[in-house]
Amino acid sequence: MKWKKQLAGMKAYQPGKSIDDVKKMYGLSSITKLASNENPLGTSPKVPQFIEDHGINFARYPDGYSGALRKDLAEHLQVSEKQLLFGNGSDEIILIISRALLQPGVNTVMATPTFPQYRHNAQIEGAEVREVELIDGHHDLEGMLKQIDEQTSVVWLCSPNNPTGNLIQQAKLDEFISSVSPEVLIVLDEAYFEYVTDTEYRNAIDYLQTYKNVVVLRTFSKAYGLAAFRVGYAIGNEELIANLDPLREPFNNTSLSQGAASAALSDQVFIEKCRIENKQGIDLFESFCLEHNLFIYPSQGNFVLINIKTDSDKVFEELMKKGFIVRSGNALGVPGFIRITVGSIDQNTELIEKLEKILIELGVIHE
Ligand SMILES: Cc1ncc(COP(=O)(O)O)c(C=O)c1O
Repeated sequence: MKWKKQLAGMKAYQPGKSIDDVKKMYGLSSITKLASNENPLGTSPKVPQFIEDHGINFARYPDGYSGALRKDLAEHLQVSEKQLLFGNGSDEIILIISRALLQPGVNTVMATPTFPQYRHNAQIEGAEVREVELIDGHHDLEGMLKQIDEQTSVVWLCSPNNPTGNLIQQAKLDEFISSVSPEVLIVLDEAYFEYVTDTEYRNAIDYLQTYKNVVVLRTFSKAYGLAAFRVGYAIGNEELIANLDPLREPFNNTSLSQGAASAALSDQVFIEKCRIENKQGIDLFESFCLEHNLFIYPSQGNFVLINIKTDSDKVFEELMKKGFIVRSGNALGVPGFIRITVGSIDQNTELIEKLEKILIELGVIHE
């Protein structure tokens, strides 16, 4: 068959071990998964309430325009309804942008390590991928600017960056966006936006007035706690969104997920609670690292990346034996580190206790 050449050797997404797998493997009765940056507090109680109260006709297609959710979100963000594009997770928005703008003969610029789906989709479309190493966990914006040329179609920025958690500094972001040609689309992926506590960080939506080549990605999968429902969205100027819209599948968000997202959006008190508890969790991990002289990136997301000064897979496995699933840095392009999703206060405290024991046993830290 006539497969695209660039598909040769590409691997499907490898999901981590499931909770049930790990339970069976180690004979454990309970497992805490802090590996995929999901919300440990779940979602707003308004979501199960909505599901209970609203009967949905399963035989009917969903509203392909996500009309009610669109209205609610536009109001919340203070943008026009036509400035929004919904995806089956922001993963689908990344796919749509790649499908629209990437092809053989063009290139795309991104940081490394960063969220791997930018690279994955660019490869599928046959575009040249230009990766620029982070500097101390930060996007090297000057380096990225140097990689942009006449053939560059899309630049990907991830802030806070997954897996380091670093936020792109506001002044640097301003300068970068004003320096990039208006012919190049700048994607600013803010999947962890709701967790940001840095008071200097402005709302990226402000860029959209001035820059027609900026698109902001956000999601209901993280702070809103709706990863299972798959609702992500893009905010851009109306013309840009209209150009991307034909690439979207007609019914890409289910009736249930649209309603759940609206319900979650209506509970900003819950989001505030999550932001505060998450910050407390990050502070706890930072104190632990300070006490034991371990490097931790300053995270503005709901995860932390810690240098455990030994083999990441070993620590990952030892934690798993003790009932915690985290991400090994080896799988994320940062060997010697582990990425931990910030959990509830109890989960963080317990994980830190276990991690401390493991690192003492491995001779990395001392009692
Ligand atoms: C930076 C970033 N962007 C996008 C996503 C995709 O999120 P979703 O497709 O669930 O909206 C993730 C998920 O981990 C992420 O970390």
